[in-house]
Amino acid sequence: MASHAQTPATRPESNRSAWSALASHYHSASKLHLRQLFADDPKRGQRMAIEAAGFYLDYSKNRVTDETLKLLVQLAEESGLRARIDAMFRGEKINITEKRAVLHVALRAPKGASLLVDGKNVVPEVHAVLDKMADFSERVRSGAWKGHTGKRIRNVVNIGIGGSDLGPVMAYEALKHYSQRDMAFRFVSNIDGTDFAEAVRDLDPAETLCIVSSKTFTTLETMTNAHTAREWSLAGLSDDERSVAKHFVAVSTNAAAVAKFGIDTANMFEFWDWVGGRYSMDSAIGLSTMVAIGAESFRAMLDGFHQMDEHFRTAPFESNLPVIMGLLSVWYNDFFGAQTVAVLPYEQYLKRFPAYLQQLTMESNGKHITLGGERVAHDTGPIYWGEPGTNGQHSFYQLIHQGTRLIPCDFIAFAKPLNPLGRHHDMLLANVFAQTEALAFGKTPEQVKAEGTPDWLVPHRVFEGNRPSNTILAEQLTPETLGKLVALYEHAVFTQGVVWNIDSFDQWGVELGKVLAQRIIPELENNHEPVLNHDTSTNNLIRQYRKLKEAQ
Ligand code: F6P
Repeated sequence: MASHAQTPATRPESNRSAWSALASHYHSASKLHLRQLFADDPKRGQRMAIEAAGFYLDYSKNRVTDETLKLLVQLAEESGLRARIDAMFRGEKINITEKRAVLHVALRAPKGASLLVDGKNVVPEVHAVLDKMADFSERVRSGAWKGHTGKRIRNVVNIGIGGSDLGPVMAYEALKHYSQRDMAFRFVSNIDGTDFAEAVRDLDPAETLCIVSSKTFTTLETMTNAHTAREWSLAGLSDDERSVAKHFVAVSTNAAAVAKFGIDTANMFEFWDWVGGRYSMDSAIGLSTMVAIGAESFRAMLDGFHQMDEHFRTAPFESNLPVIMGLLSVWYNDFFGAQTVAVLPYEQYLKRFPAYLQQLTMESNGKHITLGGERVAHDTGPIYWGEPGTNGQHSFYQLIHQGTRLIPCDFIAFAKPLNPLGRHHDMLLANVFAQTEALAFGKTPEQVKAEGTPDWLVPHRVFEGNRPSNTILAEQLTPETLGKLVALYEHAVFTQGVVWNIDSFDQWGVELGKVLAQRIIPELENNHEPVLNHDTSTNNLIRQYRKLKEAQ
């Protein structure tokens, strides 16, 4: 993009007529109750649903009318969403602050497709890396890849953080059902030594492969953990440096730093700067996933991603799953003032999905500066959080049902269980439907009274209802479905970012803390009392820490 100032995407938000139309529409729409909306339209539950790419999205329990949806779609159009989608797929440098293309969609493009970065088709490189990963994974899974002492690899430890951890750990947990069960998979991310210590305490270095995953290969946590892992591995393998080649592989864009660490670049799996960290679980960063589930299942996952990419790229906005989900979250975030979105998977295997989504959504859209360099006129990224159902029902759902805040919810459920056990699954799904029903329709004072509740207790037992939710239903959690689900949220996040007119693909907000920590580390480690030049709070905390750690 030569000059962003003239593109529709960078027009100040206030220039968009749909925004002001939505603001005035909000005054009437916010007064409508879902009870009334359903009563007025007996077909609402069928009408306000999208079936695409094997997903069924019911968005009828949202506080919207046909007019709201029309205006939201108009907002997407006026924000230049169509042009921005096309620019992304064309490999344009839409990550303007880092001057990078944003082409995670190329990671799942089929062989033979063409997606260009700087005029070069990147799809063949993607498939070359996938083939290399497949070859390596199959050798590890079959036992053909031997450790230094000749033992087969039984344990895989992925060392990475942020996008180089959250995607792999989420995907491993999500697809555990499909994983090679005679192997153990561990994930080390935190610089807190406990993370590494607990991950390896029962592992034999002779049977353990460490995958050091880092796009930059400079991240403090990952490099520190990787060096500790190297020492641990060498200590268990007679300090023979030659063992590193059998027990360490790397996933990175930085071959020089990988070689400097001591990993043979023949054992490096490459990806590219046009893959953002939080969009990388389907790149070589997914190596641990591929070792766990095998190349065929990994490719099925990529196919799922691709199906959702194609849906996003081609479907009209009105029936486009990520577009509608993105726009609905804008509606609550900017017009209702909702500050969070709860993501509630009713699938135990998706227990790390909310944590994964937190990086995807909040590192992407936690920005307050527009593409044009001005302060945004409206709130941007909401806080995403959640836990699997039904566990959450017995903790925080109380607040969603009867608290003072509006919390839009995404319920995610599958028709077929992976572990069919008696009546469990019907009971699980009954809870999904019951929760969305209770949130939307609540319970009136009349209904509470009719149950014989004493008057003084009635207000406590009333459920106002009118609390919005989406329900995403799919047949079963498979590698393919997981790919679709992740792509659905990736593109919903992109949609939001386009409407907010921000760069969803940089992450400058994580830099300052990193730099300050580097300055403080020697102040904590210094044997002599350091001269401290921070504010009085930080100086004092450092002194307190030094005193406490030295106390006998
Ligand atoms: O937290 C900042 C960040 O740069 C993330 O965007 C990224 O996923 C993570 O750190 C890890 O970075 P790397 O893969 O380069 O080690």
